[in-house]
This record gives sequence, C-alpha cells and structure tokens, in this order.
Amino acid sequence: MTAETILAWYDRHARTLPWRSPPGASPPDPYRVWLSEIMLQQTTVAAVKPYYERFLARWPSIEALAAAEDAELMAAWAGLGYYSRARNLLACARTVVAEHGGRFPASSAELRRLPGIGDYTAAAIAAIAFGEPAVVVDGNVERVVARLFALESKAAVRLQAAALTPAERPGDYAQAMMDLGATICTPRNPACAICPVRSDCRAFALGAPEAWPVRPPK
Ligand code: ADE
Repeated sequence: MTAETILAWYDRHARTLPWRSPPGASPPDPYRVWLSEIMLQQTTVAAVKPYYERFLARWPSIEALAAAEDAELMAAWAGLGYYSRARNLLACARTVVAEHGGRFPASSAELRRLPGIGDYTAAAIAAIAFGEPAVVVDGNVERVVARLFALESKAAVRLQAAALTPAERPGDYAQAMMDLGATICTPRNPACAICPVRSDCRAFALGAPEAWPVRPPK
C-alpha cells in the first residue's frame, strides 16, 4: 500500500520543524498547528520559521493572541506579506476565545467556518491536530499524486488523493506527502533515485516525471 510506504519513509526522514511533533508522537497543540498553517499559506517553510518562533514566544496561547492589539500584531507580521492573513489571524483567535471557550473546534467542517481558514487549511489542521482523515491537497501533494498516477485533471488528483488518505495517522501522512513534494518530488529534477514510491509511480515508469502536473492550456 502506498500510504504505508510513505508513512514508513516519513518515520525515517520527516523534516524537524518547530510546529511538528515527531512521527508517531501525540499531535501538537491545535493553536500551534493553526498558527503555522496560516503562516505557511503563501510563504515558504524557511521564511516562516523565525516568525513562528517569535509569535509563539510572544503569544504562547490563543488567549494571549486574542488579547493582542491590532497594531502590535500587524507589526510582528511585517515582512511575511499577505496582510489579510494577519487580520484574519486576530479575528480567528478572538472568535475561538469568544465562541468556543478558547478551544479550536475539532472537525474540518467547523474549522472551515472560522476567519482565514479555507478548505486546505481546515483539512490540514483537522488531520494534523485532531487525527481526522481529511484530504489535504496543497501544491506539493497535488504534484506527487499527479505523478504517482499520471493524472491530468485536478478533479482526478483530488479523487485519487482521497482514495490514498489513510484512516490511521492522517496528520503524519499529510505532512509526509508535503515533505515528499518539497524534498524529493520537486517541480524540476525530482530525486526519483531516492524516492520511496518510485516503483509505484506511473510518471516515473513512463520516463517523464516532470511532465506532470499537466498545466491546463490558457
Ligand atoms: N506547508 C504547509 N503546511 C506544512 C507542514 N505542516 N509541514 C511542512 N510544510 C507545510
């Protein structure tokens, strides 16, 4: 099974990132998962790391963040870009404190209703923090799945991504797919020689992994 192979690879090669628990450990605090996923929406892992550390030191809980002044938060966000994320961050923190007693709701459907949380982010938080087998598809995951099954449409990728998502360890699985896409199944020059699922990969078998994902004609 491909998901099992990918999880076994993650157990050995997961990137150590400040918002993660080690593979197989109990899930990280939903506050940390949410904060990191919002920061990672349009920003690289390398750029996010120092901001994430500073935010967590200054606002160690959702209650602390909800009590921040708007200007203070905007100043701390400066440099990350896409400032609507910062405004939504504060709105979301205040909503979780005012309407949910300071606890993030535990399902992707409820998370989706909070400010700044779209389909991807709701699925990522639900999988990583709450163990919901939500289908987590970002750009990296889309590329990995498109290549594995040599798929052309986004709809087909989504269906196959759903079929692959395991009931066990969905958060580790989601982050394993992200790591696979970021470190091995890269847009250019993928490192197929060290890929754990090379033998299952149709794009590799067809000899042209870089031909996927197929860009729709403009
Ligand atoms: N990009 C978005 N979320 C991520 C995560 N949890 N780990 C690595 N990269 C990510």
